Amino acid sequence: MSRPLVIAHRGASAQAPENTMAAFELALRQGADGIELDVWKCGSGEIVVTHNRDTQELSGKAGDLQKLSLRQLRRLDFGRFKGAAYRGERIPTLNEVLDLARGLELINIEIKGMEVRSRGIELDVAEAIVKFRLLRRAVVSSFNPTILSRLQTLNPAIRIGLLLYEKSPLPLRRGWSAQFLKPYSIHPSFGLIQKKFVERTHRKGQKVIVWTINDFHQLDACIEAGVDGIITDDPAWAFDAMRQ
Ligand code: G3P
Ligand code: MG
Repeated sequence: MSRPLVIAHRGASAQAPENTMAAFELALRQGADGIELDVWKCGSGEIVVTHNRDTQELSGKAGDLQKLSLRQLRRLDFGRFKGAAYRGERIPTLNEVLDLARGLELINIEIKGMEVRSRGIELDVAEAIVKFRLLRRAVVSSFNPTILSRLQTLNPAIRIGLLLYEKSPLPLRRGWSAQFLKPYSIHPSFGLIQKKFVERTHRKGQKVIVWTINDFHQLDACIEAGVDGIITDDPAWAFDAMRQ
């Protein structure tokens, strides 16, 4: 049985501060097959890599990144919360991360935000993928079907992944929008994984990439169900666990 791809969730975020260059560099050193990163469009228009729209939790300073310029965001410290060794880590741009990770087998760019108005982030992400020649390596995922649909219209060659979360309302949890989106991949949270679900998805020609797998029991169940990729905070652990 072939093993699933190991994709570093927000980089190697178990050890390094999530969604920073330090975390993505560590994921590469750990031999991850891919990375997952979260993106937003900041106030001055650049695409930046971080999980929350509000900067408080990760930088210790409150702010709405859709209103802050890149220059203002770069003043914030996105590393300190993970310990003194990571003090001074700055928020990266999508371009910086793509430049680092362009050789990986899979780059999963997750577009954040559930609003219908997305300030054109789809076009910027699509242009970056084309500029870095990543059509065959990148997958753009989102919980927001509107964003995925727009991306598909802008460039049908871009691979899209529909995110599903077990605690979402039924239409989102079941991924009903997949009927018209016909995504490259489905990205369910672990609670939605069953062998039958994986088989059904494979019959439609779609991949299954599961998040966030950080323990043996879950990893074992994913392998048993035949998933194509696991998104984990700790790629080094996942490789160790699969060797045993
Ligand atoms: O892409 C998988 C996972 O990252 C989705 O949830 O909140 O960690 O971005 P979240
Ligand atoms: Mg994410």
